[in-house]
Amino acid sequence: MTELLERPLSLPCGLILKNRLIKTATAEGLSDTDGRPTAPLLRLYRQWSMSGTAAIITGNIHVDRNHREQWRSLVIESHSQTGRFQRLTHTVQQHGCALFAQLNHGGPQTPNDIHHHPFAPSEYAPPWYFLDYNPSQAMNENDIEDVIDRFVSAACFCEASGFSGVQIHAAHGYLLSAFLSPATNQRTDQWGGSAQNRARLLIRILSNIKALTSSTFGVGIKLNCRDFIKGGTSPKDCAQTVSLLCEAGADFIEISGGSYLNMAMSGQNSRSQGAYFSQYLPLIRQHCSVPLMLTGGIRDMETINQLLSQQVADLIGMARPFCLLDSPLEALKSGLVLPGHPPFSTRTLGYTCRKLIPSLNTLDHYREQGWFADTLRCLGDRQPPLVTSAPQAGTGSVLPP
Ligand SMILES: Cc1cc2nc3c(=O)[nH]c(=O)nc-3n(C[C@H](O)[C@H](O)[C@H](O)COP(=O)(O)O)c2cc1C
Repeated sequence: MTELLERPLSLPCGLILKNRLIKTATAEGLSDTDGRPTAPLLRLYRQWSMSGTAAIITGNIHVDRNHREQWRSLVIESHSQTGRFQRLTHTVQQHGCALFAQLNHGGPQTPNDIHHHPFAPSEYAPPWYFLDYNPSQAMNENDIEDVIDRFVSAACFCEASGFSGVQIHAAHGYLLSAFLSPATNQRTDQWGGSAQNRARLLIRILSNIKALTSSTFGVGIKLNCRDFIKGGTSPKDCAQTVSLLCEAGADFIEISGGSYLNMAMSGQNSRSQGAYFSQYLPLIRQHCSVPLMLTGGIRDMETINQLLSQQVADLIGMARPFCLLDSPLEALKSGLVLPGHPPFSTRTLGYTCRKLIPSLNTLDHYREQGWFADTLRCLGDRQPPLVTSAPQAGTGSVLPP
């Protein structure tokens, strides 16, 4: 029953993933004040690397400390030292698990206690209820070139530190995603307008990383299938970007969706449980010549087998189950449906109310994220999760102390 999930996969760069399950990015908030990995972070990654997953994608690592999405994110800049990152890569890879560093720039989703005038493709004012975020300033050519250099030198740093590759974060409304989105990119120069122009920044970063790293160093990209906001990235836009990325040498593409304006990535706006972005994959697949990874709400073998056997996806991304279980892979093998939510409801009101008042989704998402962040901190400190519930038949078990 888990035969398809356990089949190895070779990426274009030659890296062989031992199976199809990927622990996707969860910002752990466990860096030190200088943005370096701490002992609790290493403990957490060691545990994940022993869970049987083929690869781990790190929580977002910022290429500019002044544009982080939270204070305790990891940071890689020109003066960063490889030491602690080498310990991280060594810890993970000794268990036969590949490790990708997710590189990010917070862009318009940089909170005002980190930057008063965050960057965006065009001037942008967040909705009034985003009290922690200031209006963004439009970037000039120098700002854009600086961002390209930062992503590229961070990727070179990751190669020198022993990572298997990097994943460029171009989803969820952060800077690169804001450039891709027609809702937030109103530029009229070479960086805005057509889908090709909106993707130019991402493609430049990918091509430059490919040119400056070895051919065996993997480069993946996380993209939104849809922004789920008016005038935002559509599945057709996403498919166009995917074909440009494949031409430019991407090694895999992960599909997610949403932004702080609509937290679709955690399924908040979705009536249905299950793989809530899978309906967008067939169109994207037609434009994708490299392994395609789907993330979001995947919890059971039936869904996984459908996605893999129908070749809708080649790789299965999971985040929340890895915060709750020792080994989601073993749980799936035992026929369990994985848990993916806190053991209490984070939904303020019903689906219809949340559809009418989108800020409720944001509120619910923050409550859930906060609980997961606390859980990760507890796991890193080797303590049981803050709130535990008795495992229910068919729903997996909460990680033991
Ligand atoms: C605590 C937490 C932190 C997250 N941090 C990141 C992140 O740093 N980068 C990212 O691309 N997605 C991040 N996500 C989103 C997940 O990668 C994933 O897209 C989402 O949780 C849906 O997958 P799931 O249903 O398997 O949890 C985070 C999710 C959680 C719960």
